[in-house]
Amino acid sequence: MNHSTRRLVDEHVLICIGLDICDKAASMVMSGSNVPNSIWENLIDFTKEYTDGFHHAKEEGVLFPLLCQRGLSLEYGPIAVMLHDHETFRRLLGQMNEGLEENNMAKVIAAYNEYSSSLRMHIHKENNILYPMGESMISREDEENLNSIYDETEMSLGGEKTSSKYHNMILSMREVVDSIE
Ligand SMILES: [Fe+2]
Ligand SMILES: [Fe+2]
Repeated sequence: MNHSTRRLVDEHVLICIGLDICDKAASMVMSGSNVPNSIWENLIDFTKEYTDGFHHAKEEGVLFPLLCQRGLSLEYGPIAVMLHDHETFRRLLGQMNEGLEENNMAKVIAAYNEYSSSLRMHIHKENNILYPMGESMISREDEENLNSIYDETEMSLGGEKTSSKYHNMILSMREVVDSIE
């Protein structure tokens, strides 16, 4: 696997750990346990800044445009599907946010459950279909350029500081959820 792909796949791993924690929190809410709102506030922050910020900035701003230059379409096929999925995630994030503001946990959980299952499917498609297809379409020079533009993109979003902030956030969310009876 190329280094540029590995970077995105590693981000998917952290995103999925966050989903595992929140899936557990969501089922606790549904079975009547008291889950602190900080879990959902952290999830919204993580989703905005890490999943939609740090990660999607590289996909939408760098990788997808390159793959379109190398022959994929923006209008149909895998890139169009992935972009449509990203919009769905933004809509669901908005619903989670509204539910939290309205203190409507049923709305938060319904939006979250849809978000979790559709994001897992999306990640599966990227890891197993789009990224391998992308690797087969780009040159060694493209790969070097991708990595340096990813570096610049990450730096503009806070670099290592942002990455470790959200790794730590996931660890503390896990501690909170594991401590709920
Ligand atoms: Fe994506
Ligand atoms: Fe992704």
